[in-house]
Amino acid sequence: MPVSPARAAAFDILMRVDQQDAYASELLHSDRLDKLALPDRALTTELAMGVLRWRSRLDDEIASAAARLLNKLDIEVLNALRLGAYQLQFLNRVPARAAINESVELVKRAKKRSAAPFANAVLRKLASAGSSGEAPESSLAKKFAHPEWLVERWVAQFGEERAQGICEFDQRIPHTAIRLDNSEIEGELRSEGIELAPGALLANARIVTGGDITGTRAFREGRVFIQDEGSQLVAALVGTGSRLLDCCAAPGGKTAALAARNPTAEIIAAELHAHRAELLRRRVHATNVQVINADALKLPLQGGFDRVLADVPCSGTGTLAHNPEIKWRLRPEALNELHAKQAAILRAALQQLTPGGRAVYSTCSLEREENEDVTARFLATHPEFAPLPLDGRLEKPVAAGVTGPGSWRILTGADHDGFSVQVLAKARI
Ligand SMILES: C[S@@+](CC[C@H](N)C(=O)[O-])C[C@H]1O[C@@H](n2cnc3c(N)ncnc32)[C@H](O)[C@@H]1O
Repeated sequence: MPVSPARAAAFDILMRVDQQDAYASELLHSDRLDKLALPDRALTTELAMGVLRWRSRLDDEIASAAARLLNKLDIEVLNALRLGAYQLQFLNRVPARAAINESVELVKRAKKRSAAPFANAVLRKLASAGSSGEAPESSLAKKFAHPEWLVERWVAQFGEERAQGICEFDQRIPHTAIRLDNSEIEGELRSEGIELAPGALLANARIVTGGDITGTRAFREGRVFIQDEGSQLVAALVGTGSRLLDCCAAPGGKTAALAARNPTAEIIAAELHAHRAELLRRRVHATNVQVINADALKLPLQGGFDRVLADVPCSGTGTLAHNPEIKWRLRPEALNELHAKQAAILRAALQQLTPGGRAVYSTCSLEREENEDVTARFLATHPEFAPLPLDGRLEKPVAAGVTGPGSWRILTGADHDGFSVQVLAKARI
């Protein structure tokens, strides 16, 4: 029996996430899926993201039904079982027989034929056990399928209630947020059947609550942009200047927003990786943006920038709803390694800032090591810099964590990813 195209595609994505450190959201948006019909694409997304979101819960169930340690299983067999278990547990519309048979076929397709009877027996056992949809365990981490160490950190930092809010948001399919540079576009989108709700953080942000924004004329013509509100807010905090440096710029969401706010400024957008610099060039069309393929640690520039954005590489713990694989890959010790890299980038990038200029340091991480600890370390040895208070700079009140003067942590939730942002001002001489 051939495997359905959606299940085969979801299985292949899960394998690439495990074996090549790929990101499911990127694979799901790549042209590999172009040959699938729209309903199959939707099912592929639901299956791949669902398995990654709920992986630890699925693994616990599989381990107990299989009565063996999961690390003894081939990864192909485990991913086929995860797909089957996810459908049995979460997709009521899929008949149990189909979920089981297709996973068994996936095992055979992956040339693990000898494991097919085992996969069949495990999934039948899970199906007959039934599911209430609720995890019996009480710990937040188990209930919401997150690593224990990460949830413990959040509870210690933000308290139980906020930690639960983050976990809950991470397990939902996030809405798409858009940036409107022009209020007339809103009416045009609505007339094309797009339903919009106001953004949580910014006046010109909207949340798409119905319809396919990518099918609209305004989207195709580049007049409306998909961009999480956190990302929009970071770009807004950079404000306006005459020479702007975006030192870690790809894929370019913030560069594009900076260019929209600063149409006559000179903007340099630097990116370390050549293929990502190329992506940036393809995505950002503003003529006042110059993309350079360069290391922020050794920028081939002479300074003189009145605005600098350092949107540094980070753990991404604020983006788990969009990138659930991150929570399974991240190790606690990586936070210190990231801290060292981020501190070096901040130091190098701020050498480009002119006296009287302003810099924004941001991450999509909720972790202290990657945020306040980085700027505190920099400020301790650079007395010419001071944090700029952010009070009054937000257009809408948010349940944000103010973590110090000039330092905000906006927790994941209310339809946006979590992120942290700090603004540093350099004294005039
Ligand atoms: C968080 S992402 C930036 C997202 C981007 N600002 C946006 O809004 O679309 C960080 C980027 O920095 C790049 N990067 C990592 N290390 C770098 C370095 N030393 N110099 C320049 N870019 C770097 C990564 O390849 C990645 O594209």
